[in-house]
Amino acid sequence: MRHSTLRQLEVFEAIARLGSFTRAAEELFLTQPTVSMQIKKLSDDVGLPLFEQIGKKMYLTDAGRELYRTCKGIFEHLAQFEMVTSDMKGLKTGKLRLAVVTTAKYFAPRLLGMFCQQYPGVEVSLKVSNRERVLERLAGNQDDLYILGQPPEEADVVAEAFLENPLVVLAPARHVLAQKKKIPLKRIAEEPFLLREPGSGTRIATERVFAEQGLKLKVRMELGSNEAIKQAVIGGLGVSVLSSHTLALDAPAGQFAVLNVQGFPIQRHWYFAYPASKQLSIVARTFADYLRQASRLMSAPAG
Ligand code: PGA
Repeated sequence: MRHSTLRQLEVFEAIARLGSFTRAAEELFLTQPTVSMQIKKLSDDVGLPLFEQIGKKMYLTDAGRELYRTCKGIFEHLAQFEMVTSDMKGLKTGKLRLAVVTTAKYFAPRLLGMFCQQYPGVEVSLKVSNRERVLERLAGNQDDLYILGQPPEEADVVAEAFLENPLVVLAPARHVLAQKKKIPLKRIAEEPFLLREPGSGTRIATERVFAEQGLKLKVRMELGSNEAIKQAVIGGLGVSVLSSHTLALDAPAGQFAVLNVQGFPIQRHWYFAYPASKQLSIVARTFADYLRQASRLMSAPAG
């Protein structure tokens, strides 16, 4: 084992985590032959095979599973060491790993851009997935901070609201309800409805509001992104409930109507969150402070 390099362990960890040589090669920007060669050297050194192929699927052997556990420990210790030393240096350098829900992509990159201008030494990675995936990443302690539209229910998670996130009812501009005031929610439940995919925070919040009034949505279609929903609304396929942030950047003017529905906009907030047991790095703490301040400059577009 003593001849194995950290790089080989890094390659092994990526394959074990992603379950594929190809995806590991992509993530590490290596060619597949390089990845295979590193793993061959590593398993020669261990003296046992680390993976086994059954049918099309690849599994860790017992030795592989043991090595994966060991690797995770090593990398966690190294990250901890880097964090402590960068704190010692008092420098705002290092890595910031963020995972945000799909809808946060309408403002998170802009906030990050401003942050990076202030701290050019910080290297940022941003993962965008729906709420369910972000919660999985949080449970697996894969990032420094997480941005979601609703705090996770677990008690051992710290969550802090930093920005408003109103949800509005969206219809095509020429919809019959476009000029109406105080439309009852019941009336919206009669319209064909476009709903986000399961696991989406927007979907959970929307379904809750209708269910609270004993109403059932007339779902016409489920769509996996806010953009697809906006296009379907423009196309006249139905109405939907989306965060008003989704209208901020590129909504073609005049193609949507935000309906005046009783109980809307739903007042929600964006939260940043992290596991309570996690010791935030100086970079993550600085970004959290920055979020608290930046939110004052970035109010949500009017619903
Ligand atoms: P979503 O989350 O992008 O997964 O719908 C947004 C939210 O929770 O507000």
